[in-house]
Amino acid sequence: MLSRRDSLLALMALPLLTPRDVFAAAGVNPFTLGVASGTPRADSVILWTRLAVDPLRGGGMPRGRAEVRWTVWQDAEQRRVFREGRTWTSDADAHSVHVTLDGLQPGREYWYQFSVGDAQSAVGRTRTSSAADRAAKLALASCNAWESGHFAAYADMADWSPDCVIHVGDYIYEGGIGRLGVNTRKVGGRDVTSETVRLHNSPEIKSLWDYRNRYALYKSDPSLQAAHAAAPWIVAMDDHEIDNNWAGDIPEDPDQQTLLEFKVRKLAALKAYYEHMPIDRPPAINGLEASLPMYGAFRFGPALVHLLDTRQFRSDQPCGQGFPGDASCDAMNDPALTMTGGEQERWLLDSLKRSDAAFNVLASQTWFAPYRYNAPPEAPKVNMDQWDGYGVQRQRIIDALADGVSNPVVLSGDWHAAAAMLIHQRPFDARSARVGHNFCGTSVSSNCPWAGALDDAKSFNPHVDYVDGTKRGYIRSTVGSGDWVATYRTVDSPADPASRCSTAIEMRTRDL
Ligand SMILES: [Fe+2]
Repeated sequence: MLSRRDSLLALMALPLLTPRDVFAAAGVNPFTLGVASGTPRADSVILWTRLAVDPLRGGGMPRGRAEVRWTVWQDAEQRRVFREGRTWTSDADAHSVHVTLDGLQPGREYWYQFSVGDAQSAVGRTRTSSAADRAAKLALASCNAWESGHFAAYADMADWSPDCVIHVGDYIYEGGIGRLGVNTRKVGGRDVTSETVRLHNSPEIKSLWDYRNRYALYKSDPSLQAAHAAAPWIVAMDDHEIDNNWAGDIPEDPDQQTLLEFKVRKLAALKAYYEHMPIDRPPAINGLEASLPMYGAFRFGPALVHLLDTRQFRSDQPCGQGFPGDASCDAMNDPALTMTGGEQERWLLDSLKRSDAAFNVLASQTWFAPYRYNAPPEAPKVNMDQWDGYGVQRQRIIDALADGVSNPVVLSGDWHAAAAMLIHQRPFDARSARVGHNFCGTSVSSNCPWAGALDDAKSFNPHVDYVDGTKRGYIRSTVGSGDWVATYRTVDSPADPASRCSTAIEMRTRDL
C-alpha cells in the first residue's frame, strides 16, 4: 500500500495538477506552518503563511503558481468581514504568502485567515500600532534552539496577547543533529549539564533547501504557531539564522568556508528568512551579493522601538572571537569598528533626536551594557561579540542617549541569560551618570553554559541588578508613560512542551 507521502509524490508527478487537486486528493491541509502577522504600522500590517504539504522535504507543493484567498474580520467571532482578497504564490518563494494589508485604523485588532480550495488556515489575531495608545504590551523573545528545549514560553506569550512580539534573533539554529538525553561537559572548569529534548532534521544547514526545511521544522511547533497567531511580530536576525558569530561577509570560521561559499550560504539564508517571516521586503540580490532590509522604527504608544540590525553591516569581532576576550587588546579601540554600519547609526541617532516618545528603545540582538568577567582594576575581560567589543561606537550612542533622550531602554537577547542592568555614561564606571536601562531576555529554549561564569562575575559589575542564566523564558514589558515594568517569565521545565510558566522577577525602571 502506498503511504500518504508516496501518494503525494505520485500525484505531483502528474502534469497540470493544481495545488487544489493535490490537497483534495491527499486530504492534506497545506497550512502546516501556521499563520503570522508582522511589521505593524498605524495603518498596515503584513499577513503571512506558507503552503507546505510535506514541510520537512521542501514543502511538497507542485511547481508553478497557486492562488490563496484571505479574509480579515473586525471581530474575534468572525462576524464582521473587514476585507477579502486573493493573492498568488509560487515555488519561486517556497509557496510563501506575504499580504500587505493597508488602510487600517491605528491601535485596532483584526483577525485573519487564509484558504486554498476547501482547506483553511488557523485564524490569527493582529493589531496595528498607535502613537496614541496610553500603554503598550511588548514581548521580547530570542534564541529558540529546537534541540535544547520545547517552546512552552511561546504558549505563555500567546496567552498574554501582547500588542507586539519583538524577536531579536536566533529564530533557528544552523547546527546539525545532536544526541538525545542529558549531556554533561566541562565549561570553564565546571561540569555543565544540558538536555537534548528533540532533534534537528539534518546536518548543519547550508543550502536554500536546508534552510527552508529547518524553518519548517521550527514552525511545526504548536506553541510557536500560537505566538505568531496571537500578535504581530517585528523581527531581526542575529547570527544563528546563518552561521555562529558571522559579521558582514565574514563567517565564524573563514578557514573552513571560503568567502564565496559563505556568500552563497548567506544568500540562501536571507531568502529563506524572508520566506518564513511576516516582513514586507524580500532580499535585494545582485549576483552573489544579498542584503535584507531589517532595521526600522515602530511606535507603540509611549514607546518608540528601534529594531536594530547588528549583523549585516558589522565589522568583524576585534581581538578574536574568544570569550571572554581581553579588553587590553588595542584593536578594540579602533573608532572605525561598527555594529550597525554608518548609515544605520545616523538613522538611529537622528530618530532619537527627533523623538517625542516617553520611552526610547533600542532592540539590539546582543547585550548593550557592559559585563566584565574579571575583577577591576585589570582591563575588563568581556564578550567581543557583544557591544563590549565595539566600545567606541557604543560610547557615541550612549552620549547621544544622554543628550536629552527620554528614558532610554535597550532590549537584548543573544546571551541566553536574563539580566537587568543600568547603562552609565561611562559604561564600566557605575559612579558615572545613569543614562538608561538594559533588559535582557533569557532564551526561549537555548542553553546557557556560561551561567556560572555570569554568576561568579556579578560582583565585578555593580551596574547589574539582576542576572540569571539558569532559566529559559522571555520578558513581558508593560509600558506606561512614566514606568516600564519588565516581567521575566520563565519555563518550569524546558523538557515539557506543556510546561507551566511563572514570573521569576519583575523589574521597574522607576525602582532601578
Ligand atoms: Fe542564541
